[in-house]
Amino acid sequence: MYVCNCNGITEREIVAAATLGCATLEDLRRDLGVATCCGKCEPVARALIGRVGGHCGNGPAAQSWAGD
Ligand code: FES
Repeated sequence: MYVCNCNGITEREIVAAATLGCATLEDLRRDLGVATCCGKCEPVARALIGRVGGHCGNGPAAQSWAGD
């Protein structure tokens, strides 16, 4: 599933990047280009990185992803 439509970044790519060491949204911006345009993907990107174990946030969006 695409998370960042502006840059064509998928959930799988974000999880892989987080697994390989991206621990913050800034890391994802630098490495993948996530949230560098409209920013609508930012909450989901933070949730995904938080789910993998990063330090990017664990707010309501993260909780919505916990059950998938
Ligand atoms: S959807 Fe990611 S920057 Fe627009």
